[in-house]
Amino acid sequence: MNSLQNVKDHFEEEAKGYDELILKLIPEYRSMIKYLISSIPFYESKPIKVLDLGCGTGNITAAVKKRYPNARVTCIDLAEHMIELAKYKLSHYTDINYLVGDLRNVKFESDYDLIISSLALHHLQTDEEKVKIYQKIYDSLKVGGAFYNADNVLASSKYLENVSIEYWKEFMSKNISKIEIEERWLPTYYKEDYPAPLLSHLDWLRQVGFKKVDVTWKYVMGAVFGGLK
Ligand SMILES: C[S@@+](CC[C@H](N)C(=O)[O-])C[C@H]1O[C@@H](n2cnc3c(N)ncnc32)[C@H](O)[C@@H]1O
Repeated sequence: MNSLQNVKDHFEEEAKGYDELILKLIPEYRSMIKYLISSIPFYESKPIKVLDLGCGTGNITAAVKKRYPNARVTCIDLAEHMIELAKYKLSHYTDINYLVGDLRNVKFESDYDLIISSLALHHLQTDEEKVKIYQKIYDSLKVGGAFYNADNVLASSKYLENVSIEYWKEFMSKNISKIEIEERWLPTYYKEDYPAPLLSHLDWLRQVGFKKVDVTWKYVMGAVFGGLK
C-alpha cells in the first residue's frame, strides 16, 4: 500500500490557508457542496449517523450539520492540521468525533446512515484501491443508507481531458498567477491526483452493490455521484 505521504505533507502545510485557497482552485466548489448535501435523501430532523471521509477543515460536515442538526458525525482525515481546523470550525457541536488516520486502514463501524466525501477519494492511486474503498463504504452502511461523493473525475477521452484542463487553468488564472499555476498547481495535480472516469465510478458503485446510482451534479472536472444500499 502506498503511503500517501506527499498528500499528507501537502495538506498539513496548506491547512491554514485551505478554505480560501480551495475557492480559487476548484471551479464551483460551493455549488458542488450544495448539490452533495441536497442529494442526501433523509428527512431533516432524523438523527443520522454520518461518516465524512477526508473531512479536511470540516466544510461538508458543517453543511451536513446545518441541514441535519441531529446528525452525529465522525470525521476522518490523514492530516492532523486539517482536523485541528475542523475541530475549531465545528467547536460549537458536541456530537462530532474526529479521527486522524488513513481511511484505507481505519476500521469503520457498520451502521452508518450516510457516508460522504469531498475531494478526497481521487487521491487513492489505483482503480483497485477505489473499488476496495467503495466496498468498505457499502459494507459500513445500514440497509437504506446513502453514499455520495463530490470529487474530481477524469474525462472519457484525452481530447475532453485537455478541454477540462484548459478550462481549469482559465478558471484558476482569475485568482492565481500563471507562474503559480504552472509551477505549483499543475505539478501537484499530476503528482497527487488520480481521478478516474465518472462512468467507471458508476460501474464500480453498482458492482459493489449500490442501487439508484446516479450523478447529481457535474461541472468540468467535478462531479457529485453516489447511490443507496
Ligand atoms: C482537497 S481536501 C478536501 C477536504 C474537504 N473534504 C473539503 O471538501 O473541503 C482533501 C482531504 O483529504 C484528505 N485525504 C486524502 N487522502 C486521504 C486518506 N487516504 N485518508 C484520509 N484522508 C485523506 C487530505 O488530508 C485532505 O484533508
